[in-house]
Amino acid sequence: MMDILTKKQEKTKQYETLFMQIKALMSSNENRISNMANFTAAVKSSFGFFWVGFYLAESNDLVLGPFQGPVACMRIAKGKGVCGLSWSNEKSIIVGNVHEFPGHIACSPESNSEIVIPLIKDRQCIGVLDIDSKEFDCFDEIDQLWLERLCSCLTSVL
Ligand code: SME
Repeated sequence: MMDILTKKQEKTKQYETLFMQIKALMSSNENRISNMANFTAAVKSSFGFFWVGFYLAESNDLVLGPFQGPVACMRIAKGKGVCGLSWSNEKSIIVGNVHEFPGHIACSPESNSEIVIPLIKDRQCIGVLDIDSKEFDCFDEIDQLWLERLCSCLTSVL
């Protein structure tokens, strides 16, 4: 069994590799949907998360953007669910057990933990990255740090 420190080191190594891949994939000449689609594919295939996708701000709602995983709800109002809250507070949110999070929007009964990262472009929150896992407590501060870095890499080309 890997101890906690080794697990964290392994995860960091995986994110370092993923970061290089995302950096290579993101192109400022490419369409934003294409960049976002490849971003979700790279994250999902690297870690095997249950669902990886974007919700993009459109007036007072978040609207489903490019994603990898099962079908998901298409519209989330500002402040609602984990995504809507992350959008309105412009802060990343880690939820260890989604069933205990007040107002959590369940797109699939198979999801047990979640992380949401706001996408900040020119000091404005233009949407969020949402990742769901079947495992409880799947995400920690290492995921938050690296996913924020990955999102900055994406928003720099949007
Ligand atoms: N659980 C999210 C909704 C989106 S799905 O998980 C894909 C939320 O509470 O905002």
